[in-house]
Amino acid sequence: MKGIILAGGQGTRLYPLTAALNKHLLPVYNKPMIYYPLSVLMLAGIREILIISRPDDMPYFQKMLADGSQWGLQLQYAAQAQPNGIAEALIIGEKFIGDGTVSLTLGDNIFYGSMLTDRLRQAALISHGALVYAYRIMNPKGYAVLDFSRNPDGTILPHSIEEKPAKPKSTFAIPGLYFYDNQVVEMVKSLKPSPRGELEITDINNLYLKQGRLVVEDLGRGVAWLDAGTHETLFQAATFVQAVEERQGMMISCPEEIAYRLGYISAATLSSLLERLPNNPYKQYLLTLVAGSL
Ligand code: TTP
Repeated sequence: MKGIILAGGQGTRLYPLTAALNKHLLPVYNKPMIYYPLSVLMLAGIREILIISRPDDMPYFQKMLADGSQWGLQLQYAAQAQPNGIAEALIIGEKFIGDGTVSLTLGDNIFYGSMLTDRLRQAALISHGALVYAYRIMNPKGYAVLDFSRNPDGTILPHSIEEKPAKPKSTFAIPGLYFYDNQVVEMVKSLKPSPRGELEITDINNLYLKQGRLVVEDLGRGVAWLDAGTHETLFQAATFVQAVEERQGMMISCPEEIAYRLGYISAATLSSLLERLPNNPYKQYLLTLVAGSL
């Protein structure tokens, strides 16, 4: 499975933070925002990843993440000229996706929690249809909201998904992390822009649903799903990461650590990587990891 991180958009809600800087380069406590979705794809076992951003912002991502080989990844970059919608990523990424399956994640979504890695690895194995998650939130209005019932075994039976509904039919939103079979590319090509002029990922998910090929898994309360798209949620995300990291002495979404623990890079590679880092707590943490003391 290949992965796509969508890191374009306007970031209007974060203005003036985004007046000169792409939202996904902004800090979430001690790491750039894009480290978090990148880490999620890495944990899913996905190592070929396309990063899509606005044309002007691409050099910043390239400077930050290079070709990914330092973390045992293959990173590619592509531009989205206009914010024409989340689903457009799958057209921009058509060549990159080739004839395999793909996971698409939004660059401002953060996931953290128990058993998450196992769940992600399972999801990345899908060969047919699509898989998305549902997550209970207090105020689902600004999200894609799921109308559903429960099967006798407690699993989710989806009825429909509504994008930013005025009257949400449930308190369950669909987070920005999606897994698709190869048909998704053709499906997006057949899509018409919505009244707000975007190719909607919710339309794609509803198409899969109508075909009976959409699996919706309850992410569960043991996982934290945050998005960092407003001043409040960006601050909350940073506070969350800081609190957990300080309490546990373990980092959330540190790509070097994930690459090392999953065997994408060797101890020798990590050590030589660390020689080039400035001496700060981030480096100290990774030095402790290489020393086997974490
Ligand atoms: P949004 O948060 O809906 O949009 P935005 O990032 O432009 O922010 P704002 O609403 O404050 O103007 O986008 C969700 C994610 O998807 C975010 O990470 C940006 C990304 N995105 C794109 O890269 N291209 C697009 O065309 C759209 C709609 C979103």
